[in-house]
Amino acid sequence: MPSALFTPITLGEQTIPNRIAVAPMCMYSADDGSASDWHIQHWMSLGISGAGMITFEATGVERRGRISHGCTGLYSDANEAAMARALAPARRVAAPGAVFGVQLGHAGRKASSQLPWLGGGPLTPAQDAWQTVGPSAIPFAPGWPTPTALDEAGIEAIVAAFVQAAERAARIGLDFVELHGAHGYLLNEFLSPISNRRTDRWGGSLENRMRLIVTIARAVRAVLPARMFVGARLSATEWVEDGFTIEDAIAVAAALKAEGVVYICASSGGNAHDQQIPIGPLYQVDFAEAIRNGAGIATRAVGMITTPAEAEAVLREGRADMVALARAILADPRWPWRAAYELGAEAYAPPQYLRSLTTMKHWVVDDDD
Ligand SMILES: Cc1cc2nc3c(=O)[nH]c(=O)nc-3n(C[C@H](O)[C@H](O)[C@H](O)COP(=O)(O)O)c2cc1C
Repeated sequence: MPSALFTPITLGEQTIPNRIAVAPMCMYSADDGSASDWHIQHWMSLGISGAGMITFEATGVERRGRISHGCTGLYSDANEAAMARALAPARRVAAPGAVFGVQLGHAGRKASSQLPWLGGGPLTPAQDAWQTVGPSAIPFAPGWPTPTALDEAGIEAIVAAFVQAAERAARIGLDFVELHGAHGYLLNEFLSPISNRRTDRWGGSLENRMRLIVTIARAVRAVLPARMFVGARLSATEWVEDGFTIEDAIAVAAALKAEGVVYICASSGGNAHDQQIPIGPLYQVDFAEAIRNGAGIATRAVGMITTPAEAEAVLREGRADMVALARAILADPRWPWRAAYELGAEAYAPPQYLRSLTTMKHWVVDDDD
């Protein structure tokens, strides 16, 4: 039976050679939002992996929408030029038909954070902190700064910033944009009844709380060329009582689908500081399956999917349409080559590296050992 993982998938007008996706991963290595030499090697490495879909890290649509001083942005001409510079060599080494996209986001009340390897948490004034914004003036956690609640004009400016960043993504030549509606950042903050206590048309009912991400999806889709597709990442549950639920996520996914969004990446958590996450292998796959069945949209499963056999089973059992890897492919960018060997499929490697594929059998982990 041919491998499900190495079966092409069509999203919008793009046919992608396999179902291995690289999840968005912040590198905290940008300079005022501009991708650096680090990104050139990083994106080339991910391109050489042979993965079919590569999503660049959470990228701020405005300067204050970055998570940290080191996060990428698409709010200036310099940012646009820098991303284009790093994309070009990554494309040259990637599998034919591989798609590159960017996760567009706004960090909201979790912006102005320290780099993780410097301890994380909110920046202090001495570290050039900036004023954060959110749906309501509610801090993320004790010790975090209180965001300014956005007013109507402020919300419209955020929508416009997403549109401008999407236009930059199109000029760069990317294949898709992913709206970051997960992990407690601004779009997730609006979706959640915990962080959104507004009483205007942007808060209250689920219909009102999803208005921002739906409005952005519509506006972004309208300015992108047909060749580009739009996806979204959602936190399908908050892992607390009285938070956003999987049923809510299915309703949001259906509304996004109606606006032309073609896939949902099902993640979870990040908005409630007291969340209790039962982390373990495949712990978020149920969400991808529920959204796929409930909203009738392609889903990307993510979260502790580490072996080719696990990834293959998720697809073969019809629980998702793609799998995304973060830590596993960061640790081992040859993961897709190894997976192809294990699953009896063909991996793409650039001709310079082709002869190394013969050694993949030595890397296969034997569970009986
Ligand atoms: C270094 C690193 C950076 C990350 N940055 C982002 C990001 O920019 N956007 C996002 O939605 N998730 C981000 N994540 C979460 C991953 O995309 C992924 O959902 C998570 O790590 C679970 O998948 P895994 O078990 O395969 O690592 C990051 C994870 C890691 C390890």
